[in-house]
Amino acid sequence: MDTKQYIQIFDELDDNDQSNSATKNGRKQKYPLRNPKKESESDHQFKSQQDDSASTYKFTYKAARFEEWWLLDSIGPFYEHKLINDVLRRLKGGKEASVYLCRASPENEASLLAAKVYRPRSLRNLKNDQVYRTGRTDLGKDGKRLVKEADINAIIKRTAYGEEVRHTSWIAYEFSTLEMLHAAGADVPKPVSMEKNAILMEYIGDAGNAAPTLNTVTLERDEARELFDRVIRNLDLLLTLERIHGDLSAYNILYWDGDITLIDFPQVTFTEANPSSWVIFLRDVTRVCQYFRSQGVKCDARKLAADLWTSHGHQVVKEVHPLYLDAEKKEDRRLWEKQK
Ligand SMILES: Nc1ncnc2c1ncn2[C@@H]1O[C@H](COP(=O)(O)OP(=O)(O)OP(=O)(O)O)[C@@H](O)[C@H]1O
Ligand SMILES: [Mg+2]
Repeated sequence: MDTKQYIQIFDELDDNDQSNSATKNGRKQKYPLRNPKKESESDHQFKSQQDDSASTYKFTYKAARFEEWWLLDSIGPFYEHKLINDVLRRLKGGKEASVYLCRASPENEASLLAAKVYRPRSLRNLKNDQVYRTGRTDLGKDGKRLVKEADINAIIKRTAYGEEVRHTSWIAYEFSTLEMLHAAGADVPKPVSMEKNAILMEYIGDAGNAAPTLNTVTLERDEARELFDRVIRNLDLLLTLERIHGDLSAYNILYWDGDITLIDFPQVTFTEANPSSWVIFLRDVTRVCQYFRSQGVKCDARKLAADLWTSHGHQVVKEVHPLYLDAEKKEDRRLWEKQK
């Protein structure tokens, strides 16, 4: 099954996305193929294979058919390696990935795990990722630097295969960053395993509810101050490891049992090698401050960012090359206006 076919399948899934309501009024819904008559022989073979394997894996979650194929292809190895034995429900379908609650196999210490499964859509939509990739060497599925010339050339030439390698590298960065941060004692989910299109990690929440993202939570002022300090401690730790989250805001921080957990790291940025690192860092701090200010915490984002940045021996660089700005993001447009 190639990337194009996956994309078509997900287009169909999008058209039919019922957000886990595969059963309606107690009756199973059918999701017709867009061009049922045009189904190719290879499609047909793939689907029959998947139907076979579907019966060997347990899915309490009633996925639409196409989603189930995609899930099987992406997280099948987690079953095979006895990491999970069921998909219970979809926690969230994000822009780039869907996150599923899985039951861990009895061999694991945790009973529940979260699987983040990247969407093929993101292959076409690795939007402005170049700004984050600058200064990062692409990684393979094993989390090691890509060394094969053929892989590197495919990425440069942007062949379909190259796009897939790039996609896996994007995910490998999320996984390896979680590993690095978790080992350093940061507040991140414990990473468990990675496949070419999915990562498995600690689940934050309980059987009934997943942890909400911080932007939906109202805090008492004292707790807000405490959690703000905790986020800053994490930002500081990231800087010690010469990394910046790159998309930090209250939307990418989970809140559970009075604690925070930072998530969503594929765009992690290198402080040293990326010419836009200061601006990216400033944006992260600004967004964090925006939320905590709304919860009664007094903070000056620019001063705080500059203090943290310079305490790690970096210089505050004001300019950012327009190539690294995203015209679709308000903050980036504002920066551009300021720089002009
Ligand atoms: N380890 C986890 N435990 C519980 N919930 C999680 C976990 N990881 C992610 N989630 C949930 O899944 C959502 C999407 O995850 P994430 O932010 O990593 O993906 P994304 O594709 O970037 O999503 P978005 O486009 O919404 O930012 C999170 O907002 C959160 O609700
Ligand atoms: Mg996110």
